[in-house]
Amino acid sequence: IHVDWDISAAEKGGYPDFMLKEIYDQPRTVRDTLAGRLVNGHLQFDELALTPEELAAIDRVYIIACGTSYHAGLIAKNLIEMWSRIPCEVEVASEFRYRNPIITPSTLVVAVSQSGETADTLAAIRDARIKGAKVFGITNVVGSPVARESDGVIYIKANKEIAVAATKSFLGQVAALTMLAMLLGQIKGGLTTAQIRMLFRELADTALQIEQILADTSAIDEAAAACKDATSALFIGRGIGATICYEGALKLKEISYLHAEAYAAGEMKHGPIALLHEGFPVIAVATKSPTYDKVVSNIQESKARGALIVAIATEGDEDIKKHADYVIYVPKVRDCFSAITASVPLQLFARSIALLRGCDVDQPRNLAKSVTVE
Ligand code: G6P
Repeated sequence: IHVDWDISAAEKGGYPDFMLKEIYDQPRTVRDTLAGRLVNGHLQFDELALTPEELAAIDRVYIIACGTSYHAGLIAKNLIEMWSRIPCEVEVASEFRYRNPIITPSTLVVAVSQSGETADTLAAIRDARIKGAKVFGITNVVGSPVARESDGVIYIKANKEIAVAATKSFLGQVAALTMLAMLLGQIKGGLTTAQIRMLFRELADTALQIEQILADTSAIDEAAAACKDATSALFIGRGIGATICYEGALKLKEISYLHAEAYAAGEMKHGPIALLHEGFPVIAVATKSPTYDKVVSNIQESKARGALIVAIATEGDEDIKKHADYVIYVPKVRDCFSAITASVPLQLFARSIALLRGCDVDQPRNLAKSVTVE
């Protein structure tokens, strides 16, 4: 008998491409990244190698990263500042390393890198340590340079990620950074043990909610089909929603070569609204949040200029259908966890458009999985 044996097909485990396989591996990634981290209402991060006193003394946080990892950092900034009230800046590593950031012994630098070998992130870590900062690495690769050169390391449990465009590592990073934000919140007194327990349970529930999103992706494919011939797209949102947009636009650019830009929706009137014309795709993250009404106003302004609106909205929000051409629903979650759920449809949206445009979703042109040279 002749058996056709294709190693790559076997590795894809029945999925047509690695990107899809990795998107579907996200509920497991979230579960594994959280596993064993909460014991008796206390977050366990012994590997951080900082005493409670050292942690309590932290008065400034920098998150440094590149690409998708940088977007995970933007989400974390919101949570760190909300729960711990420690000022937090997020900076792309290639900028951080060439300026003179304000670093003292009580500065915590969090370096986020899937591969653990991105040249700029590594250089930024070295620089920060020379200047006296404590550095935590958050990476997916055990024993990677980022892990070795940091004072402490948190491993995300994404397992090997093969598609160039990061998906499951992003969700793993957001989950790990969320726990770090909770830890800082607990240490600084912003979160009680009861609140930590409640938040952790809701964070763990996002794995189930991602499964719900993955169970029916037809609305995402319909919206993608309507946008596939566009030459440009705008992603808008506010708060955490804006950070989701940055990652959504990056995914679309990376794999479909469709130009996409993300804007905090409040900035629309300061430039991007000039781009809009009949049929111009505007992807709005309009999940329930304190600024939901503001986002809806921005959607209406875009609609009035002929834009084709794709809204990511919270299940049960029937009202949004009045304003949007396509609605992609995600389960209701607390706003601080919306990045985990609402990012998933945007990954699938980018993939769907890329396939409709005939692109190789796993190996986009000109891009590398890890960038080990400057
Ligand atoms: C490359 C990859 C991206 C990734 C970025 C940062 O550009 O294509 O997917 O987000 O590097 O990589 P890192 O491994 O440091 O997270």
